Amino acid sequence: MPIAHPLPLCVAWLLLLVVIVMSDMTNGGVQGPIEGYNSLDDLLTTTPTPGQAALLLPTAPTAAYTHPKWMEPYFDPSTPRNVTALMGKSAYLSCRVRNLANKTVSWIRHRDIHILTVGSYTYTSDQRFQATHHQDTEDWTLQIKWAQKRDAGMYECQISTQPVRSYFVRLNVVVPTATILGGPDLHVDKGSTINLTCTVKFSPEPPAYIFWYHHEEVINYDSSRGGVSVITEKGDVTTSFLLIQNADLADSGKYSCAPSNADVASVRVHVLNDSQPHSRRAKIRS
Ligand SMILES: *[C@@H]1O[C@H](CO)[C@@H](O)[C@H](O)[C@H]1NC(C)=O
Ligand SMILES: *[C@@H]1O[C@H](CO)[C@@H](O)[C@H](O)[C@H]1NC(C)=O
Ligand SMILES: *[C@@H]1O[C@H](CO)[C@@H](O)[C@H](O)[C@H]1NC(C)=O
Ligand SMILES: *[C@@H]1O[C@H](CO)[C@@H](O)[C@H](O)[C@H]1NC(C)=O
Repeated sequence: MPIAHPLPLCVAWLLLLVVIVMSDMTNGGVQGPIEGYNSLDDLLTTTPTPGQAALLLPTAPTAAYTHPKWMEPYFDPSTPRNVTALMGKSAYLSCRVRNLANKTVSWIRHRDIHILTVGSYTYTSDQRFQATHHQDTEDWTLQIKWAQKRDAGMYECQISTQPVRSYFVRLNVVVPTATILGGPDLHVDKGSTINLTCTVKFSPEPPAYIFWYHHEEVINYDSSRGGVSVITEKGDVTTSFLLIQNADLADSGKYSCAPSNADVASVRVHVLNDSQPHSRRAKIRS
């Protein structure tokens, strides 16, 4: 029985070695960097495949003398490819390059094939663009100050190899948006409470104020109608609740939520005449 354990383990090691040797041989003729190839420190976060494990064997350092292709610069594949920035705030596009050596990293805007930065030098006259790099990191970050809608699109991080290597990052620029939950039509029974919830998202700061409108008129909370209240909770997502108690048929119609920093959102409220004679009769008959 004790012998049963070491034997399969031994076979497994032998198999692994065969796989390693085979993959080492097949990788011998690779021209570019191995797709998705990870360096030593990446192995902590990713599961190594046998091909990657082969690079850890004592044969790897000898290969380094001939400066193999895999020693050339390559992009860290974990670098985000989809970045969302708030309009009016700074956007940061990251580009992580390993083994850069004496090569240069450039940022290019795809919309007009405009070179924005080369190394730490800003090439464009638009002062909002800046590349930052700190000596002990592999990050070449493109900062776009006061991001605008027109800044949205594809950006290319390029390494000056022959031929060049590129990594594409998409930038989205979002603006504050208001939404009323449950729209575009809400049905409430006469006599019940109308509860409208307006949320304001993608707002760098909470809106200074939120106005509620019924038809085209600002709702006056101290009007003779009474029973109208608003609760606003400010935060990353600001929420405003409009509560109208004892809904009457006259409370039907369009309601709008107008935050100080976002477009107006509207819903249509239908107060149902619950005491309609025919429906009451129908209930009594059944
Ligand atoms: C990128 O992010 C935006 C905003 O978060 C999202 O709407 C979009 O679907 C994403 N695109 C891809 C390709 O993941
Ligand atoms: C970069 O380094 C390589 C060898 O590592 C050398 O052959 C090449 O001339 C260098 N290029 C520049 C621009 O310094
Ligand atoms: C109004 O509706 C929101 C969202 O459904 C809910 O969270 C809130 O508690 C409601 N308020 C009242 C007073 O019913
Ligand atoms: C609603 O119901 C009441 C009571 O049955 C009725 O008098 C009134 O005409 C109805 N109103 C509408 C708009 O249907």
